[in-house]
Amino acid sequence: MVRSGCDPLCSPLALNLSTIDAEPIDSMTSLRYAIVGCGMMGHEHIRNLQLIEGCEVAALFDTDSAMAASAQRSAPVARLAASLDDLLEMDGLDAIVLATPNFRHAEHLRHIASRRTIPLLVEKPLVTDPGDRELIDALERDYAAPIQVAMEYRYMPPLQRFLAEVESITGGIRHLSIREHRFPFLKKVDHWNRFNDRSGGTLVEKCCHFFDLMRLMIGAEPRRVMASGWQAVNHLDEAYDGRTPDIWDAAFAIVEFDDDTRAMLDLCMFAEGADYQEEIVAVGPAGRIDCLVPFAPSHWPNDLGVRPQPRVVIRSRDRRKREDILVPVDARLDDAGSHHGSTYFQHLKFRDVLLGKQAPEVTLRDGWRAVAIGIAAQESSATGMAVEPLL
Ligand SMILES: NC(=O)c1ccc[n+]([C@@H]2O[C@H](COP(=O)([O-])OP(=O)(O)OC[C@H]3O[C@@H](n4cnc5c(N)ncnc54)[C@H](O)[C@@H]3O)[C@@H](O)[C@H]2O)c1
Repeated sequence: MVRSGCDPLCSPLALNLSTIDAEPIDSMTSLRYAIVGCGMMGHEHIRNLQLIEGCEVAALFDTDSAMAASAQRSAPVARLAASLDDLLEMDGLDAIVLATPNFRHAEHLRHIASRRTIPLLVEKPLVTDPGDRELIDALERDYAAPIQVAMEYRYMPPLQRFLAEVESITGGIRHLSIREHRFPFLKKVDHWNRFNDRSGGTLVEKCCHFFDLMRLMIGAEPRRVMASGWQAVNHLDEAYDGRTPDIWDAAFAIVEFDDDTRAMLDLCMFAEGADYQEEIVAVGPAGRIDCLVPFAPSHWPNDLGVRPQPRVVIRSRDRRKREDILVPVDARLDDAGSHHGSTYFQHLKFRDVLLGKQAPEVTLRDGWRAVAIGIAAQESSATGMAVEPLL
């Protein structure tokens, strides 16, 4: 039975996923955000914050003048800071969104924490180096303002639906697979994502999202990781400052959890031909549930015809129950970004953190542990050995 996701029964969650009209905040409250790093994701944050009443982009900083100017055009009232310190001295800021390249996150977190205590939304991966663990421990212990990590995939409407149903449908996940088949890494400022030493490696950079979802869905901690990744097709004919990219574009990773559940990731970044970019399948003693996430409209050329819709497919083990549920994403959210509205819903949550209504749902610990699994997977690929993640 195919059922439209807009039927009220389909939105059991607090977040009314089928509309974007956020719960209003009193007109006196205006939250002022600063964006540090105004590239592709910085712009997506600006567009989504502009959709939320009471949220204002008040300050911007980027070392690249063209990106800074472009962000300024998107947020004309925002003040363009001359430096990170200049921004940190600004009065009246309520939060900073950190969207600089991966290898800069630890440096910027240390810098910010040494000068100001202000709520932070930090882009993924939280950090990239095993040595950054101490920094995360110190922030967890000493930083007196909330820090949310921007692993937002859990907020995609189809994943929210999947998460609401998975326990009752499966009877408890015992077997989980996540497949991402997509296009190559996009072009970035100064090509930081073409090199392991600047991105942290594909299994950290790209896959921390999925390792975060595995921990969230299974509700246990990783025990060991076995992985095999390589650079099969992409970027081999590119060169930057005389260096050929070394970033992997394909990998398999198996993660064993301490409740014995097993999960597998299948990543391929030369698979534009797929119908769905993400296919997540959870199976347990009672049944199976699939979450099928298509390419975002921004990555689906119009001449390809009708784009598949986000879906959740439910099958009971005895095959008596079969449902195929469409979970559409509001077009205004698709226009504001390329992550199926998850950046918007993530900001609604972060707004509630700033209003003191809740604690961050994606914590520093979540951020570190998703990275730790990725680091273990990179190491396992390099050594051929199973690796225990440094939790
Ligand atoms: N959550 C998601 O789904 C998602 C998606 C894409 C990227 N990201 C993350 O967002 C971050 C930014 O990625 P992007 O895609 O926007 O890359 P990008 O290259 O488009 O943007 C990065 C920006 O940071 C600026 N920058 C570099 N060094 C800086 C510094 N020292 N101070 C201030 N600005 C500096 C660059 O000039 C550039 O404008 C990365 O950590 C990436 O992993 C997250």
